[in-house]
Amino acid sequence: MPIGEAVIEIEDLSFSYGAEPVLEKISLAVQRGDFLGVIGPNGGGKTTLLKLVLGLLPAPPGCVRLFGQPLEMFKERARVGYVRQRALSLEQRFPATVEEIVSLGRVPRLSRWRPWGSADTRAVRAALRAVEIEELRERSIWELSGGQQQRAWLARVLAQEPELLLLDEPTTAVDPRAEAEFYGLLEKLNREQGLTVVLVSHDLETIARQVTKIACLNKRLLYYGVPEECSHPILEELYAGKRVLHHGHGWASSPSPSQGEGTG
Ligand SMILES: Nc1ncnc2c1ncn2[C@@H]1O[C@H](COP(=O)(O)OP(=O)(O)OP(=O)(O)O)[C@@H](O)[C@H]1O
Ligand SMILES: [Mg+2]
Repeated sequence: MPIGEAVIEIEDLSFSYGAEPVLEKISLAVQRGDFLGVIGPNGGGKTTLLKLVLGLLPAPPGCVRLFGQPLEMFKERARVGYVRQRALSLEQRFPATVEEIVSLGRVPRLSRWRPWGSADTRAVRAALRAVEIEELRERSIWELSGGQQQRAWLARVLAQEPELLLLDEPTTAVDPRAEAEFYGLLEKLNREQGLTVVLVSHDLETIARQVTKIACLNKRLLYYGVPEECSHPILEELYAGKRVLHHGHGWASSPSPSQGEGTG
């Protein structure tokens, strides 16, 4: 699939869990090679949007296409990698080495007719190398620092060899330096390997340097375009004076007056 071809197409997508709509008339397209940042306040529908794209929630038929195919028909799940929000706490009871965790990323590629082989071992090694934790592969995942664990989770999804990677606030529970390094890794994968990335984050400032496009989501899509043109009034409207819980970092006001206005 050449660069510029649509990887995700969303057209007029609305969704509600109950009576209240959570998403209203969302339309956007992610091209191959894009690095899209999705920002918005708590409850703005970011996780819901990712789950709809992944088929984890039922999208109305005809509203979502993946790799040019209607979502209802799309069967090649291994092409899409997903790092869910708060992945860490849910998996804490799992005793395993880094290499074992990363090997789990191959599961979507295996079947009864396609058992583990040398290509799988190579993919695991390549993923460990890509996030620079090869030397930690024998260690128990729970002995690692938060930032190292975060890299291991990223390696796991990279071992799957996805063409599209969706990450929902992947840097919870890591310090700002580890967060910056993690986003640097994503940028490298995007720029050097052409991986298409959709990253949910708590604010623009954190991700403005890495992303090529930004989506501002609060039930409706308030802005979709390059980060440089996402102006302060848009961010004001997006957060409407609300404070945002920076998952893992406590509370902070958003947006800050310095962001937007072409500072990215
Ligand atoms: N399983 C569910 N059942 C009912 N309502 C839900 C469910 N999941 C989410 N919601 C509601 O849908 C709305 C959007 O939630 P969502 O998790 O998509 O927001 P978000 O933008 O990811 O927020 P956050 O920044 O806190 O992660 C919220 O009002 C939430 O309470
Ligand atoms: Mg969320």
